[in-house]
Amino acid sequence: MMRIIKYGNPILRMKAKPVTEFDEELRQTIDDMIETMQVGEGIGLAAPQVAISKAFFVIDNSLIEEGGQPEAIINPEILSSNGESIIEEGCLSVPEIREDVKRPDFIKVKYQDVDGKMHEEEFGGVRARVFQHELDHLKGIFFVDRLGAMKRKLLQKQLRQIAEEEMAERVEV
Ligand code: NI
Repeated sequence: MMRIIKYGNPILRMKAKPVTEFDEELRQTIDDMIETMQVGEGIGLAAPQVAISKAFFVIDNSLIEEGGQPEAIINPEILSSNGESIIEEGCLSVPEIREDVKRPDFIKVKYQDVDGKMHEEEFGGVRARVFQHELDHLKGIFFVDRLGAMKRKLLQKQLRQIAEEEMAERVEV
């Protein structure tokens, strides 16, 4: 199990670096992240959330579609998007907070898989939602940053508490 770092940890505000080596180490890290995501009951987990500031994340497709498998998305980019939907989001790095977030409904993306193979895809629904949430992590953005000013103000105290606990834990390590 990898430790999931929380809101307030500066690594989560960094811009993740592109992946250039598609090697055994990457494969092992991805396997560990998939296990950590599943134990944490998350539907997605980005590398910065396990303190690796690199541009990749994992999605658990088994929670999205019948017969789906966990998958690694590497060096992702959104090429275009359209529509709009409001869906409740949560995050393993922002425990106990769930809020409605407005985002595009459909996205056209490109990314590499664990072998470095390039993919271009268009999709909507939950997969599009998770993809956008995780891609935000690679840019140092949290879903709570996308809430209205009023909502954010209401969450301020709770977020500050998460950050304080995270900083205390960092010192112990
Ligand atoms: Ni998240």
